[in-house]
Amino acid sequence: MFQLLFFNLASYSNDFMKKNSISEDEFENLDIDPVTFKKIGYEVIDAITEYYSTICDRRIISQNNSKEIEKVFNQQLPITGQSPAEILDEWKTAILPNATHLGSPRYFGFVNGSGTMISVFADALATSVNMNAGGWKAGPAATEIERRCISWIADLIGYQVDCGGLFLGGGMIANFAALLTALRNTADYNTTEEGLQSEMKKGKFIVYMSDHEGHISIVKAVDMMNLGRASIRRVPSNNDLTMDTSALKNMIDADIKDGKVPFCVIAQVGSINVGVVDDLENIAGICSERNIWFHADGACGAFGAMLPEKAHLYKGLDKADSVTLDPHKWLYIPYECGCLLVKDHEKLRRTFSISAPYLQGTLPTDYNGLDYFEYGPQMSRGFNALKVWMSIKYYGKEGYQKLLRQNILCAEHLHNLVKNSPDFVPMHQPQLFIFSFRFFPHELKDVAEVTQLNSYLDNMNQKITDEITATGFAFIMTSKISGHVVIRLSICSHRTTLKDIEQVFEKLKQVGEKLYKEIPFAP
Ligand SMILES: Cc1ncc(COP(=O)(O)O)c(C=O)c1O
Repeated sequence: MFQLLFFNLASYSNDFMKKNSISEDEFENLDIDPVTFKKIGYEVIDAITEYYSTICDRRIISQNNSKEIEKVFNQQLPITGQSPAEILDEWKTAILPNATHLGSPRYFGFVNGSGTMISVFADALATSVNMNAGGWKAGPAATEIERRCISWIADLIGYQVDCGGLFLGGGMIANFAALLTALRNTADYNTTEEGLQSEMKKGKFIVYMSDHEGHISIVKAVDMMNLGRASIRRVPSNNDLTMDTSALKNMIDADIKDGKVPFCVIAQVGSINVGVVDDLENIAGICSERNIWFHADGACGAFGAMLPEKAHLYKGLDKADSVTLDPHKWLYIPYECGCLLVKDHEKLRRTFSISAPYLQGTLPTDYNGLDYFEYGPQMSRGFNALKVWMSIKYYGKEGYQKLLRQNILCAEHLHNLVKNSPDFVPMHQPQLFIFSFRFFPHELKDVAEVTQLNSYLDNMNQKITDEITATGFAFIMTSKISGHVVIRLSICSHRTTLKDIEQVFEKLKQVGEKLYKEIPFAP
């Protein structure tokens, strides 16, 4: 019987070869040959070294507009392969000239980190081995390194070191994973089995976030969960833009009375416009008394908890059920790398666990531990942990503390420059690395036409920011605080110095003065 099968297989294989006219010795893997690989590899290292040696002086944005950039890459699908040299040449001719240089010391956009150099090696090495950190069998070292990094990060910020957690694409997806974990673990029926349409559901699920500083990624997470945006309560803010915790308490209690099901409060730990940290201790208390999940969105600022002099801001962070952090922001890790910590790792597993015969496989192994596909939304995953592992080893806790302190000092220096200038006003006292302020010429301080003045100032602040960014010398953006357009700098580059801040502020003054002359206020 078996003989027959083998015979048939052999004859099938011969037929197949004939039909497809390809023999064993004609198979090729089309890999790059080792000599070329080495030659190109050295050239790539030369190009990267040259890049880093000029990064501080580079024009930050491309000189081309969006249509021109689109045209550069409007290429036909390659039918025949090209040589590695030709392909890599496009890095210099097409890609670099159309890049935005987040590693510049004068890049202050969004909340974008600057990229540690050692991560370049980490990414290249991780890619060469191509482990899949989704499952232990496909990535044992990757799994253990990620586990170690999660514990180190918890240690850095004073969180429980045996917590669960994992790396994710960014803060948004980490917030999503946290919200789902919150729902799964606080609802009084099995939401995994029954979903949101269950007849066991008592009332509408509700989440709470700060009205001003709560981050939009929470809205996206709620959208992804299909909870409906109406399930988000915007809690009023105090004057310093932290969450008003008495209002929070009242809102939750009113919702409970009304038959709703509050399940998660999201506190800001370094907020997007002003970098404030909510009253974590108080929020933790409110949540634990009512069995509500306490999530700390520390995508911007949670790493600041490694600084003893800032410990007062982070009191209560250790009580959070989950914490979002973004190593690709204030740990300077290159994109992408977000992170979620969950105090009880079993709760994370309960949220994301799945199983199928093909996931368990038949490989004999003595390892019965952690498969990351059971702990997060992704199944296959890259070896992102290596760049974090190498960066933490390279800088050490002390190196990171130094870099974070430099950023905070730069924000404080900018605050002083603004305070001492007659034509600018600070919008807040910076606590971490984000600082927002406004161009406000002193001649206009007593103007009575408030509405016209505000819209004039909004326009001026936007124009100043756009004009400076267009020069390529610095990259700055605006945001809105209490309805006013403000100039906002997120100083989370490990390369920024006080001199960079002074140069940028000088430019802001010059451009402000010039535009004020060109476009005077005319009510
Ligand atoms: C407070 C906060 N949460 C979440 C996010 C989303 O992070 P990401 O862009 O990494 O997804 C950001 C981004 O700036 C943020 O500032």
